[in-house]
Amino acid sequence: MTTTGAEALREAVRRRYAESAQAVSEGSKGSCGGGSCCADGENDAATFGEALYDAEQRGELPEAAALASLGCGNPIMVADLRDGETVLDLGSGGGIDVILSAKRVGETGTAFGLDMTDEMLALARANAAAAGIRNAVFLKGVIEEVPLPADSVDVVISNCVINLSTDKPAVLAEIARVLRPGGRIGISDVVAEDRLTPEERAERGSFVGCIAGALSKGEYEAGLDAAGFEQISVEFTHQVADGMHGAIVKAVKTAEPERRGLPVIQPATSAGCC
Ligand SMILES: C[S@@+](CC[C@H](N)C(=O)[O-])C[C@H]1O[C@@H](n2cnc3c(N)ncnc32)[C@H](O)[C@@H]1O
Repeated sequence: MTTTGAEALREAVRRRYAESAQAVSEGSKGSCGGGSCCADGENDAATFGEALYDAEQRGELPEAAALASLGCGNPIMVADLRDGETVLDLGSGGGIDVILSAKRVGETGTAFGLDMTDEMLALARANAAAAGIRNAVFLKGVIEEVPLPADSVDVVISNCVINLSTDKPAVLAEIARVLRPGGRIGISDVVAEDRLTPEERAERGSFVGCIAGALSKGEYEAGLDAAGFEQISVEFTHQVADGMHGAIVKAVKTAEPERRGLPVIQPATSAGCC
């Protein structure tokens, strides 16, 4: 992909999620206007968004945070967060997973949320304040260049965002950089079966709709391995389109990260965008 193509795609993603944040701020469910985004389709209510959280978790959240949920899984369920830990949520949106994380790591821990969209950051900050959270910090930036120092984070979580990146090897390398040795990831994402080509993924949905840019299971595993992770698992949880699934991705940063260079992973951006 050319730099201009990648920039245009990122801008389309930013615009789409800014619209969604604005809709929630005005009191409606997170949606993306006339186009698609995660949880925008009529049949998506059970496969994207707040339905993926249990009643107890939803009870911990301000209504606007639950309404803003656009994820494809529940990373908190698998991250096994502990008191005092530092957590980073990539693409934190309306703040749902940051709020839940902040409660789990307690006052001695910190939950960072990183997002590139101003409207989402404003919504997340308002939601965290409404939930009485004091140990959450929302940062503006892109997940391909995380504005945190190396070896500063215990756990990286993310919910339906890495598929939206135009440079997935950079994201995986950044996760490895900011995690402490032995640090872990608990990520929800849309992941394709290995039988689907990038073109076939793009036939099933748009890039901004969290479908066309999805990695396959094998690509995810290879990318994490190359970035210096071990104990890698990518498990499908529910189907979101033919051959495409919500998935839980887990891995641990090796204590002695071995940099072997990053593989070229081509996201399926040739069609279906916008
Ligand atoms: C599908 S929503 C998911 C939001 C949230 N994780 C949730 O579960 O509700 C994607 C979010 O990721 C953000 N995002 C997408 N690509 C990004 C990038 N390259 N860098 C930073 N944020 C990004 C968008 O602004 C949006 O808030």
